Amino acid sequence: MSCHYGLDKVPQVMKPFILMNSEGWPGIDRAIALLQEGALSLDVVEESIRLTESEERVKTVGFGGAPNAMGVMQLDASCMRGDTLESGSVGAIENVMHPISVARKVMETLPHVMLVGAGATLFAREVGFQETDILAPSARARFELECPPAGDRPLVENFISPNTQGSHGTVISLVGDAHGCLTGGVSTSGWDFKYPGRVGDSAVIGAGLYVDNRYGAVACTHCGENAIRASLARTVMLYMQKGAGVREAVTEGLLGLRALVGGYQGQLVIFAVDNQGEVFVGKRFSDGTPLHALFWNSTMPEAQMIDAIAAE
Ligand code: GLY
Repeated sequence: MSCHYGLDKVPQVMKPFILMNSEGWPGIDRAIALLQEGALSLDVVEESIRLTESEERVKTVGFGGAPNAMGVMQLDASCMRGDTLESGSVGAIENVMHPISVARKVMETLPHVMLVGAGATLFAREVGFQETDILAPSARARFELECPPAGDRPLVENFISPNTQGSHGTVISLVGDAHGCLTGGVSTSGWDFKYPGRVGDSAVIGAGLYVDNRYGAVACTHCGENAIRASLARTVMLYMQKGAGVREAVTEGLLGLRALVGGYQGQLVIFAVDNQGEVFVGKRFSDGTPLHALFWNSTMPEAQMIDAIAAE
């Protein structure tokens, strides 16, 4: 694979960099080593996320992630190339350890962008991904402890209370390589104990992820329902396209969420980096929980922590 420049502006890229959220700790060091060896951003994104998907201690992604309300693991992931805007995603895929790799395969194999549910699982099987039970023992124990059995009641009754709460961790990886290419990827088990079939922003290009070499890369974590309603990643990119710096673009995206009225409202964190490697991480609410990201570029000996700044 090489980089393509069909777009109107070839970026003057750049110091290689990687931006991951804190869930990316299992993958960041390997990603840095790959970038130092001159690897392509798509390969670095995939590898950094695969390492996170395999890590049981990350409770929101892949093997360590939370199942749905029936105790079944359904995972979402996407990837996007900034040089061609090619994208691939899977939603509610079952029985695969590495949905990020299936998303890449969708992008590289099919004329489609997004596969969901049984079709995504069928595709993974047909192209040779090993099927495996990915409900980790720790996730099963958490499900049994924290997800009240519906008994004879419809599952939906667990979701219509005004007190419905959701935890929606995710891993994001935004990478610029020495060849001038930006790529992004996102992977998650989504809302803990979600309604079966629920797909979040991590599988929706434009909501949880958008990458364009001409401007930069944007990814979101936390409440996917709100990111989808606002087309959030693409909205932030449009501010960058219109000349805003990363901080201003992220802040405008977060302030725009005030237009969301009704429905479930939750935290959102936006990770953005422009094609010169300027980075900013912003969050919707200051809820007392520290949120940080891991950022490295080729002038740094190791990744640094960046705090998310609240927009309110
Ligand atoms: N942002 C991840 C999710 O809502 O599923």
